[in-house]
Amino acid sequence: MASEPLILELRNVFSGYGEIEVLKDVSLGVRKGQIVSVIGANGAGKSTLLKTIFGIVQPTAGQILFDGKDITKRSPLEALKIGISYVPEGRTNFPAMTVQENLEMGAFIRDDTRAVAEEIDALCRRFPILQEKRHTSVGNLSGGQQQMVEIAIALMLRPKLMLVDEPTLGLAPILVKEVFRIIQEINQSGTTVVLVEQNARRALEISDYGFVLELGAIRFQGEPEVLMHNTEVYEAYLGSR
Ligand SMILES: Nc1ncnc2c1ncn2[C@@H]1O[C@H](COP(=O)(O)OP(=O)(O)OP(=O)(O)O)[C@@H](O)[C@H]1O
Ligand SMILES: [Mg+2]
Repeated sequence: MASEPLILELRNVFSGYGEIEVLKDVSLGVRKGQIVSVIGANGAGKSTLLKTIFGIVQPTAGQILFDGKDITKRSPLEALKIGISYVPEGRTNFPAMTVQENLEMGAFIRDDTRAVAEEIDALCRRFPILQEKRHTSVGNLSGGQQQMVEIAIALMLRPKLMLVDEPTLGLAPILVKEVFRIIQEINQSGTTVVLVEQNARRALEISDYGFVLELGAIRFQGEPEVLMHNTEVYEAYLGSR
């Protein structure tokens, strides 16, 4: 696995919001086929990192490469077209629309209607809750069910790389387990995953590699076993259960 090529690489990336600089000289690599976790305190810059990769926030310096190609200055739409999808923090689906309609929206850049319909059928078989609630407005689903819809929407474009921001926030333990299982399953079917999680221990348990972000910079990185045995990482992020 360690010899797989990098699907994503950030080289000395700086980014932020106007005058506010958040990411400071971030360099990192994600290997094809891996699940990579990014952990860190509130405000460390985890969401900003994903937004910068997806193109919602543009880097002020540095370079971003995807599959070896420079994608530093791309829009989110271009990111979607080359195979990067993004599951943002919180609920961002269309609550008045049904599960089916939300999934159709997720495929908005595809024009192969029949394949899209088959894809929706396949996702509904894979996530039974989607089948059960297929014609229900998403706004009437529970938080955990809405999170499943979010993930399914991001899968509609069959991404090579999926960026997932805190998918388990506010979920009951049983659903947390379910979301982690789904992320593993997505990864096993060939999608590389960058996962931002508050639930650091659980995230590292399913990851091949991890990064610890502090004040917008990579403070530690390594394989999960290495990070879990690092005293500073342990005390700051893994100490309490
Ligand atoms: N749209 C914005 N405009 C200005 N500042 C922002 C914006 N979004 C985030 N910030 C600031 O950028 C910093 C990093 O925020 P970010 O959302 O990336 O943190 P995070 O690690 O995802 O935190 P959390 O764990 O709370 O989600 C914070 O200081 C935050 O206040
Ligand atoms: Mg965040």
